[in-house]
Amino acid sequence: MSRIYTKPQSPPPAFEDAKNTRQKVRAAGLDPNYWYPAEWSKDLKAGEVKEVVFWKRSIAVFRGEDGQVRAIENRCAHRQLKLTTGHVEGCNLVCPYHGWAYDGEGRVVDIPHSLFGRKFPKFKVPDVPVQERYGIVWFFPGEPENAAKVKLPEIPELEGPNAWSQIPVDGTWSAHHSMIFDNVCDFTHAYLHRKFRPFVDADLLKYETVGDAVYLEYDTKVGDGQFNKLFINRKRVNVDHMKLGYQYPYQWSNTDDQIKHWLFVCPIDERTSRSFFIFFFKQFVIPFTQIGIPKTVMKAFLPAAKQLTVKPLLAEDGVAVEAEQEGWERHWDAPLAELNPVVKAFQDLTIRKWEAYLATQRDPSLSQLSTKPDSKRSSAEPQGSEGETNA
Ligand code: FES
Ligand SMILES: [Fe+2]
Repeated sequence: MSRIYTKPQSPPPAFEDAKNTRQKVRAAGLDPNYWYPAEWSKDLKAGEVKEVVFWKRSIAVFRGEDGQVRAIENRCAHRQLKLTTGHVEGCNLVCPYHGWAYDGEGRVVDIPHSLFGRKFPKFKVPDVPVQERYGIVWFFPGEPENAAKVKLPEIPELEGPNAWSQIPVDGTWSAHHSMIFDNVCDFTHAYLHRKFRPFVDADLLKYETVGDAVYLEYDTKVGDGQFNKLFINRKRVNVDHMKLGYQYPYQWSNTDDQIKHWLFVCPIDERTSRSFFIFFFKQFVIPFTQIGIPKTVMKAFLPAAKQLTVKPLLAEDGVAVEAEQEGWERHWDAPLAELNPVVKAFQDLTIRKWEAYLATQRDPSLSQLSTKPDSKRSSAEPQGSEGETNA
């Protein structure tokens, strides 16, 4: 038997046919019964409509002239045109073909042509719950009746008069969402960022899965890049340690309660994802001093920091995960070679949640909507460097 690996001729397997953790996770979706980011609030102006796609389902998200955001399925009930090819009029979305107008609940509320002697019809497309918080328009692609029961994470640093300085940045990458989650918590990829040095010499201290979350900690030099380094008070902030979490379906990091980020991913399809990052900082200091930079000055400084460091750094990740996606599609059947146990923990959580979601689709009585961590804890310490083997 040949020991030479030859690439598979077929596309990667569907979730049901997947044979190992990686094949499963790369085919898994994200449970739609959570809030997902649609757009930055500032990028959806009154009178604008945008198409947002969640796992191939197209949704029209629009802001009425009253400033309220609404979302409905992106198809006209008449001839199935995408409603995003139309426009917003008042608080309704108007289809460009025959001019039918839809309100925020997806009801046809105006038909500007003859009704042929009929009563005004009750046509409707599904509506999608939306809300705005943290500078993001969120939508709930799952069962609408679940929306009120599911909460966004509480992030007090992002709102109110004492909100921290923030750098919001997003990217749409041709990569499966699980590649992005693997990337953000697996610091073995410091090599990729050897120019910007956001984390260096990472040692995984511990990780544990608690309910629907994976928590982990690294000893690592944080923000060691030549530029970043100058603006962090390294005497007062412990920049040698970082906590991270995959709090399904979101991800975050925390450096000494001074530097944090959250990542919200919208899974567009099996090979496309849009990532919304918000990096936030309690305080920057004037380089070579311990003097804090006032918030107003910070505001002017953050766009420059975003262009000079955050964006190019994330672009490196974007290039890597897109290349990984291509490699995956060519070589999905290659033997697994993975060292960081955190990656497996993340993937297991994504798979478990997707299996649970699929089970509720087959048998709705199983739907016991709970996003609270359960009391069962499974914890594990990093052990040796055993690679995962092909299951
Ligand atoms: S197709 Fe939309 S109004 Fe006719
Ligand atoms: Fe990275």
